[in-house]
Amino acid sequence: MNLVEELRTRRNLSDEDFLRLLKTDEYDQELFSSAVRLRQKYYGNDVYLRGLIEISSYCKNDCYYCGIRKGNRQAQRYRLSEEEILECARQGYELGFRTFVLQGGEDPWFTDERICGIVSQIKAEHPDCAVTLSLGEKERSSYQAYFDAGADRYLLRHETADPEHYSLLHPAGMSLSARKQCLWDLKEIGYQVGSGFMVGSPWQTLEHLIADIRFLQELEPDMIGIGPYINHRDTPFGGMESGSLDLCLRMLGILRHVFADALIPATTALGTIHPQGRELGLLAGANVVMPNLSPVSVRKKYELYDNKICTGEEAAECRGCLQRRVSSAGFEIVVDRGDRRKEYGL
Ligand code: 5AD
Ligand code: FES
Repeated sequence: MNLVEELRTRRNLSDEDFLRLLKTDEYDQELFSSAVRLRQKYYGNDVYLRGLIEISSYCKNDCYYCGIRKGNRQAQRYRLSEEEILECARQGYELGFRTFVLQGGEDPWFTDERICGIVSQIKAEHPDCAVTLSLGEKERSSYQAYFDAGADRYLLRHETADPEHYSLLHPAGMSLSARKQCLWDLKEIGYQVGSGFMVGSPWQTLEHLIADIRFLQELEPDMIGIGPYINHRDTPFGGMESGSLDLCLRMLGILRHVFADALIPATTALGTIHPQGRELGLLAGANVVMPNLSPVSVRKKYELYDNKICTGEEAAECRGCLQRRVSSAGFEIVVDRGDRRKEYGL
């Protein structure tokens, strides 16, 4: 049995074999076509939509890689009002979105009370929709309050599962163990949980990527978001190299095998490092796309990395753009909440 066949059968490999797979492009074609067949088994040709609403570019954290870090004086800050957020969701609903992702920097202005109010209002207006939050590290009691207000899912990437590497990417005061605790809290509360990491972040090795797979195997997330690290000029990593498309696609192919029924987006970062990055992501095993629903007037200000796509006037209609892109890859966007299809298990 070759490596890809073994991965397909066992849904796992030894560290050494993962390393062999990651090191070369030799297995890519077989890996990708096997990944697509696996996603077809659970999801057919369906691709799920998540409407991304970027609610605030204020952040109290100072992650070295991120363009909206507190220390970036050049960053333009904004926060959406409650009414603006609800309006984005209304427009999204008309466009066929059945999941809304409220994402933002860690902005204390958005108190638990405000978040809960927004979540319950969206759920009241659109009871057939899922609400996903992506608002960073919070107290367990806050996560519980959002859940009680109706939030269904939470996205919190672990960024890297190696504690030393984590401390090279984040300032003192942030730790991998705190991040992991949040993820366990979210799971216990009953959220559908998403985690993930950047591919090609500064000082990342292939061994780190294997540690990421191992951590995800422990966590058993419902969603896994990965994308290439992309430089942002006004961060401490400003002069560093961005991650590679190929390695990111290879990781997507592997993740689809290990987490066969997971929801895995072809991310905006993937679309930023290559004009067809998201289409290639779908063809490597991804089954979710996350078009931007934020008001066009603020999009450029939520600049996590340089040259982020979908921020210009031409992007007022990401929905149509992605529709074309998804069908060009041979898949189909569906109007659905897009929950994980665990029931079709093996
Ligand atoms: N390049 C790629 N991804 C980034 N993120 C933050 N900064 C960057 C960057 N420079 C990702 C992180 C975060 C998610 C919201 O965006 O993984 O969890
Ligand atoms: Fe946003 Fe294409 S998906 S412009």
